[in-house]
Amino acid sequence: MSRAAHEDRPAAAFVRGDRTVAWSGLRGHWQAHGRDLDLRDIFASDPQRFERFSVQAPEVFADLSKQRWDEATKRLLLELAREVGLEARRDALFAGAPVNSTEGRAVLHTALRAPKGQGPFSDEVHEVLERMLAYAEGVRAAGFTDVVNIGIGGSDLGPLMVVRALQPYTQPGLRSHFVSNVDGHDIAPLLAQLDPATTLFIVASKTFTTQETMANAQVARAWFLDSGGTDVAKHFAATTTNVSAAAAFGIDKTFGFWDWVGGRYSLWSAIGLPIAIAIGAQGFRELLAGAHAMDRHFATAPLEENLPALMGLLEVWNRDFHGFASRCVAPYHQGLARLPAYLQQLEMESNGKCVDLDGEPVPFGTSPLVWGEPGTNGQHAFFQMLHQGTDVIPVEFIAVREPAHPHADLQTKLLANCLAQSQALMLGKTAEEAIGEKAPTASPDLDRAVLARHRSFPGNRPSSTLLLERLTPRSLGALVALYEHRVFTSGVVWGINPYDQWGVELGKALCNALLPRFESGDTSGLDTSTAGLLRKLRA
Ligand code: F6P
Repeated sequence: MSRAAHEDRPAAAFVRGDRTVAWSGLRGHWQAHGRDLDLRDIFASDPQRFERFSVQAPEVFADLSKQRWDEATKRLLLELAREVGLEARRDALFAGAPVNSTEGRAVLHTALRAPKGQGPFSDEVHEVLERMLAYAEGVRAAGFTDVVNIGIGGSDLGPLMVVRALQPYTQPGLRSHFVSNVDGHDIAPLLAQLDPATTLFIVASKTFTTQETMANAQVARAWFLDSGGTDVAKHFAATTTNVSAAAAFGIDKTFGFWDWVGGRYSLWSAIGLPIAIAIGAQGFRELLAGAHAMDRHFATAPLEENLPALMGLLEVWNRDFHGFASRCVAPYHQGLARLPAYLQQLEMESNGKCVDLDGEPVPFGTSPLVWGEPGTNGQHAFFQMLHQGTDVIPVEFIAVREPAHPHADLQTKLLANCLAQSQALMLGKTAEEAIGEKAPTASPDLDRAVLARHRSFPGNRPSSTLLLERLTPRSLGALVALYEHRVFTSGVVWGINPYDQWGVELGKALCNALLPRFESGDTSGLDTSTAGLLRKLRA
């Protein structure tokens, strides 16, 4: 696919956040006032706080009022955004400037969801999209029972997360499977249940060189042929930028994409084929439309009301001023169970960097640790630590108002739990409040005051709550695009490149160097730990 004139445009100038006047202002504000902000006090003194710190974006309403910030913080963060040139850098991103500077590439996942005739590379994008959607509809009509996506990282997590989330929109009788790990415990039990006559394998890999994916694809093809499968052309498809490598593997049916689509931003491209097969062409178009609506919001809304920008700025405030090193994502919707895993790659592979665009070490924290589990399950596991542990961990609650099931009572209980958790984190409970309570399991010898301290909660623990009306292809598209642009915003302030991932290369190279040693047993030149472990694993 041709490189376009867009890529010759220079990326907008780079100003690192900590070198701005606003950053010093934020530091002073935090020391004088921001670190002592107490959510209970600021809510008590401002009845309008919910209205003033919530934002309606396309498909997503966000309550940011339970974060430890105030109007002065917000004003300084917006100044910071202006000083680092967030708007110019955003415009450069959308226009196809080579913002991925270490790989000399544009970053144009937004072009994948732009309507026909709009955005860079529209002809190429829509040609593949139409072909891919027509193929997906053909697969849905062809009597396949199982579709197996073989891919890892961005070639797995996005499609997997979306297909799970949109399960009510999927075609009955057509099962979707995702194999990613080079651990044979992933693919082996799956193959044991499949019928080669009615199974389609999609080999998904941007580069078509990834060890895990290539190894699993070989296993799948061998199994297919050994189990009586004959028509590889009908039962294998590939989604890749490396069309010639797919052809060399023996796959004719290939859907391409471009080097300006990052792996973790690729679910909107041909990598979304398993989504299109699962929910149909119309559903996939809705997913793109939702993401495009969020793109327009990010591209045009004033920063004061721009949700991805505000969330990205708040991330910087929490990470670099409050010093919160981790963020918990708690979706109160079982369909979003894989969202935290998806966000781990999106956020940590993007912003887990320690040098800026000039290669200088950054003197502040970048990506927080992102993790989570669906509510209410998390409440019965790690929420104890969120409420009473020694670290403050901001939580991102995601709730969906209208369920896709008929059990209204369960839905009410789910939503009440979600609200109660953010309330409990914020309000806490003092030992004085706890002392009068009956503790059902307390030892009779325990001093009441001691017990009350165990039963107290510090409170003032921040959270955001995102609300969707319903979990649909459109709203999910908007939600994912919101996260993408939030990552971009924080990355601009930090002055880093969110679009490369050199940090995964060293392990890959060392693995390749170790592989022949498993055969030969040669441990020469290895550190004693690696050598000792290798000897044990070979024994
Ligand atoms: O883990 C590194 C990585 O390059 C990810 O960025 C990417 O999503 C994944 O591997 C899979 O790569 P590919 O799609 O080329 O197989």
